This record gives sequence, C-alpha cells and structure tokens, in this order.
Amino acid sequence: MSEKGRDVNRQNDRYKEKEEKKEEPELTGNDNPIDNDNPVRPLSFDEYIGQTKLKENLLIFINSSKKRKSLSGRYDMDHLLFFGPPGLGKTTLATIIAKELGVNIKTASGPSIEKSGDIAALLSSANDGDIIFIDEIHRLPKPAAEMLYPAMEDFRLDIIIGEGPGAKSIRISLPHFTLVGATTRAGLVPSPLRDRFGYSARLAYYNPEELCQIVIRSSFIYGYKIEQLAAMEIARRSRGTPRIANRILRRLRDYAAHLGQNAITLEVARYGINGLGIDELGLDENDKLFLLTIINKFAGGPVGVDTVAQAMNEEKGTIEEVLEPYLVTCGLISRTKKGRIATDLAYKHFGLIRENSLF
Ligand code: ADE
Repeated sequence: MSEKGRDVNRQNDRYKEKEEKKEEPELTGNDNPIDNDNPVRPLSFDEYIGQTKLKENLLIFINSSKKRKSLSGRYDMDHLLFFGPPGLGKTTLATIIAKELGVNIKTASGPSIEKSGDIAALLSSANDGDIIFIDEIHRLPKPAAEMLYPAMEDFRLDIIIGEGPGAKSIRISLPHFTLVGATTRAGLVPSPLRDRFGYSARLAYYNPEELCQIVIRSSFIYGYKIEQLAAMEIARRSRGTPRIANRILRRLRDYAAHLGQNAITLEVARYGINGLGIDELGLDENDKLFLLTIINKFAGGPVGVDTVAQAMNEEKGTIEEVLEPYLVTCGLISRTKKGRIATDLAYKHFGLIRENSLF
C-alpha cells in the first residue's frame, strides 16, 4: 500500500477510535456565521486537508507576521489573492487565516458591492489587523476597485465630495486591514488590483486520497458510518472538489436510508452515485451535456463558448468557471483560439468515434 493509502487508513482509524470512545466531535459549535452554516468547514490548518504547499506558505507568512506584531505592536500581514474553480476552499482558507492571526473577518462579495461608498463603509468598519474577505473580487464595479488601490497600499481613502470645480477631496485614514480576495477568474481581475496583493495562489484540484480523507472526516462530523472503499468511491467521482464530495456524501446518506442500510457501503455508494447521474470520471449531467453539445451539434468543434452556451441554454460564466476547468484538466476539452474542441479522449469516454481525428 502507498504511503498516502496508509495515511487514509490511519485517519479513518483515528475517527473510528474517537467514535468508539464516544467522544464529541471537536469541530462543531462556534459563533462565526461563515462556520455555523457548514459544520464540516475546517477551522484550523491542522484540520484542513490538501493544498499542502499553499498551507505551508501561509503558515510561514502568518507566523512571521505574528512575531513582528509581538515586537512592534503593529499588524502587517500582506494582502492575499486566491484563485481557482469554485468549491476548493478559498473562503475556508480566509476564515482559517483570521483564526490563526487571532483577528476578526468581515466578508463581502464583488457583486454585492454596488458603489464606492460600499467599499468605504466596509473598510472603515474594520479594526486594526482584521481580515476583509471579498469573494468574486473580479466582479467589483470599477469605481469600487479603484477605491481599493490607495486603501490597500497606504491604508487611506480619498473621497470626492461634490462635483465640478467646487468638488473637494477628503482623506480618511483606515485601520491596517488585510484584504483576502478570491476569484474563479484571475484573468478578469484588473492588473492594478492584482499587483497590489503581496501573494497570489491558485488552489489546485484535490487528489482522490485527499478527498477520501475529507469524506471520512465529514462522515465523522455528520455522524454517518461509511466504509473506506465507499469513501474512496466518492473521492474518485467528485471532480477533485471537496464541496462536491461533501454534497455526494450527504445524498448517499439518503440512498443508504432508502436501501435500509445503516452505513454507506461501497454498494450503496455505487448505486447512489449512478442514481445521481455521475459517471466514472465524476462528470455530472451538465458536464456531459456540454461535451455532447460540442460533439453532436458542432461536429466536435472548434466552436465559440457563446455559441455552445446558447445551444445549451446555459450561462457563459458557468461554462467558463465551473464546467471547463475540470474538463480541461481531464483532457476532455481543449481551449483554442478558434474555440472549444472536444478531444479524442472525450469521444472515447462516450464510446464515440471522431470522423477525422484532430489529435
Ligand atoms: N471540507 C471541505 N474542505 C476541506 C478540507 N480541505 N479539509 C478538510 N475538510 C474539508
């Protein structure tokens, strides 16, 4: 067995031991609104599985900033930008960073900020050291993004009052906050904003061993019994994404009840995952529709993303941010200048043959 396989077993045994001792799960019950609605969200780096290199770096930055704070009394943690597909843990990391730094977190999302006044209100409500988390930061309106530049760099806001020749600019000092930005579309973050982050990192898809550990941990928190092989089956079919793995896990609890089982066995997992329309590669109905639209309606491509979106009656953004990144990672879609192409592997996946092979 590989070292990773042994890790998974050890983790599973640990949870079993705790369950036998009837210990309360340690991970529930805290007063942060972000955590309350999701009991499986890890609250510390120790509980956070995967993204190993990123975690190592963040711990270095956090510990070093804490040391400086204890010497100088000043907070100086630099701004951080996380990017990558949805469901990989960007919000979770922001909450863990706040906890590790011992500061509060204030959250907002790009589309909820309509005017520059909203940014001014958000930033001026922070205390020294607080984390300001802005999700979907690429969707901030331009005037709001522009207001962030001096705020991030010099911790000040320049507010213009009035219009025309009588307009006046007033300057407001801000607390030393740390901005954590998250985006599914790094390319759409304006470069002056991107450049003001001291560290940017892409969150990678999780490997099956990591997802298996996540599923076992979540089962323990939810109080579900699960077989090791069932956890691995969920892991293999979750598109490398913890949010999807946890969602499948909760649905399999329903399938187990339906089948009169008190545990999620491998048989329950296979039955349920097939029932959910998720295939061997973890593709769901939407992924399959996207690929089959390109294959059947556009002869495999190349075809523009707008055209496929129209044919599928789907949002272009959903295709680009949710569907494509995983399909590209699996080698099923190729993004070219002329448009999207379904690869030979995609044809093979559906048992189809391309008339004139391109690859
Ligand atoms: N639940 C969701 N994401 C997780 C992670 N990265 N580690 C542990 N549990 C999780």
